[in-house]
Amino acid sequence: MNEPSDLSANATQSKSIQNPESKVQNDAILECTSLSRDFQSGETTLHVLRSVNFKLYEGEIASIVGSSGAGKSTLLHLLGLLDTPTEGDIFYRGRNITRLGQEAAARVRNREFGFVFQSFHLLPDFTALENVLMPARIGAGSLQWMREAGKLKERAESLLTRVGLGERMSHVPSRLSGGERQRVALARALVNEPAVVFCDEPTGNLDSKTADEIFALIEQFNRELGKTFLIVTHDEHIARRAQRHLHMSDGRFVPAD
Ligand SMILES: Nc1ncnc2c1ncn2[C@@H]1O[C@H](COP(=O)(O)OP(=O)(O)O)[C@@H](O)[C@H]1O
Ligand SMILES: [Mg+2]
Repeated sequence: MNEPSDLSANATQSKSIQNPESKVQNDAILECTSLSRDFQSGETTLHVLRSVNFKLYEGEIASIVGSSGAGKSTLLHLLGLLDTPTEGDIFYRGRNITRLGQEAAARVRNREFGFVFQSFHLLPDFTALENVLMPARIGAGSLQWMREAGKLKERAESLLTRVGLGERMSHVPSRLSGGERQRVALARALVNEPAVVFCDEPTGNLDSKTADEIFALIEQFNRELGKTFLIVTHDEHIARRAQRHLHMSDGRFVPAD
């Protein structure tokens, strides 16, 4: 692979600058090369992501910070297979996953990836426990679900207990605070034991104390379960708490100010 030549090289190299040994110890679990995403707006082409190179290392918490419109969500959606790039490639554990068919992409998303969003995206008519179980139910299919529902339910309950909601499992989202809803979303993101959890502005709707609590849970799941986290945020304070933090502006990685 060619060495990246533009500023986005920062994104792949800063880890080895901060900790020279880490590159030897840690492999990239997820990598993208020359990743671009254009959107068409009438006659104009918007170059929202501009040939980005990035490596996410196994077992780390990495954050990408940038102002609104920088292209952070676009990058996260591409890496999480929620969108398809205009150009470039995405590798998961060395395998090119850029242009999988819909079913194969859905399988990778369901089994390997977890997602946490700013506005929680919980289903309003389902309890916290049912929300957490949803990806397990979808991933299992009906036969496996019949066989394993008990085990999966135990896992979901254990995750809800770990995020501090052991007493609120049967509450629907409207009876939970913002912070509690994000705890449910975090438990849901982990229920299928994914390797990578993508968080898009996970603290964007929370006050700073609650945001810190959510980040502490992310750290706990990283430390205790070895999960890799990629967090995109406009909140510099939260971004700095990550083990590695990168800056994005106008669809590219840029050096910190
Ligand atoms: N589906 C889309 N169609 C057109 N423009 C889009 C679309 N998605 C994002 N954009 C534009 O791309 C830019 C970056 O968006 P986004 O990745 O959401 O930024 P961020 O998450 O950093 O705030 C914005 O100018 C946004 O308007
Ligand atoms: Mg965004």
